Amino acid sequence: MAVQPNRFTPTGAVMDKVRGMLANTSIMVTGGTGSFGNAFIRLLLRVAKPRRVIIFSRDELKQFEMQNHPDLKDHDELRYFIGDVRDQARLETAMRDVDYVVHAAALKQVMAAEYNPFECIRTNVHGAENVVRASINVGIKAVVALSTDKAVNPINLYGASKLASDKIFVAGNYVTGKQTTKFSVVRYGNVAGSRGSVLPFFRTLIANGAKKLPITDARMTRFWITLEEGCDFVLTSLGAMEGGEVFVPKIPSLRMVDLATAMAPQLPHDIVGIRPGEKLHEALISDNDGRNTLDRGNYFIIEPDFARVLRPRDYQAGGKRVADDFAYTSDKNSEWLDVASTTRLLKSGVF
Ligand SMILES: NC(=O)c1ccc[n+]([C@@H]2O[C@H](COP(=O)([O-])OP(=O)(O)OC[C@H]3O[C@@H](n4cnc5c(N)ncnc54)[C@H](OP(=O)(O)O)[C@@H]3O)[C@@H](O)[C@H]2O)c1
Repeated sequence: MAVQPNRFTPTGAVMDKVRGMLANTSIMVTGGTGSFGNAFIRLLLRVAKPRRVIIFSRDELKQFEMQNHPDLKDHDELRYFIGDVRDQARLETAMRDVDYVVHAAALKQVMAAEYNPFECIRTNVHGAENVVRASINVGIKAVVALSTDKAVNPINLYGASKLASDKIFVAGNYVTGKQTTKFSVVRYGNVAGSRGSVLPFFRTLIANGAKKLPITDARMTRFWITLEEGCDFVLTSLGAMEGGEVFVPKIPSLRMVDLATAMAPQLPHDIVGIRPGEKLHEALISDNDGRNTLDRGNYFIIEPDFARVLRPRDYQAGGKRVADDFAYTSDKNSEWLDVASTTRLLKSGVF
């Protein structure tokens, strides 16, 4: 299916800037074989004309499948690197002659992180540190790291590890020394249909003839973004970044009961209770970050307050300052997907 433009698709001067920036460059995507990576690499090939795109991840089978995929197999600019973000030396080897890095590699299952805390910290926290150190050592121009709403006021280790990662990337801007490497973060909510998410989980239950759909709490809300919107937003952020910002897209909220109803109107819901480490509602910007937040139309940036002081050049943030006590949470969002709009998105294949 052809990819449709969405609210974050770069257009006009923004697109020109991104195209000009990325043309004939070398771009590395850690976690390039994941849900985000697969879509983002196709986006890069479609809109930018990079000289090389490096896919960096651990599992050879996922790389083999990607390499042989009909729409990727003839792209000579793609390079596949087996490597682990826990290994800084390997990152530096893979980053040789690379201009830009998008850091998507992560362990992202909440329960897996709770049961395997050392592994989660090695990949999400030490991995972030290694990406920052390696990027500075080889002189990368700019790095965008992916974050999640679970990193805001975290109550589970996955969220806490991503908060630590966000801090490492923002602080990366103060330790560059003579290098000019810039680091920024893109933070968004649930990606519709990504691996291991609730949408494929419900789809499998429905296909297997489930008699009811499990809902943890009838009040639960989440932020939603499509994979294409997420990828376009990362591209826009790469073009807009000064270094040190957390970019947050304005995206709708959805009640989990409405998602279940849209997916299977005939099935009753089974309220199974909130799981350990789960919140009723998520936040993309906490009320403590409101004072550093700027509204830029269809997205916010959380300004790097320390970076302005410590970085030797002026920080050029533009946008409208929000109220000091502003918070961006999934239960108090001004934009909602209801059952009808979710049904439409499911039917059109967008979700
Ligand atoms: N999906 C969502 O709903 C969502 C929402 C907000 C933010 N995010 C963030 O977006 C990013 C991408 O998520 P995704 O949905 O694309 O995840 P995903 O589908 O699980 O992909 C994760 C990728 O990371 C690689 N990876 C994992 N551990 C690695 C390591 N130690 N070294 C190198 N590569 C490693 C995986 O490949 P191998 O296993 O082969 O190494 C895979 O390519 C993550 O940072 C996540 O936190 C996701």
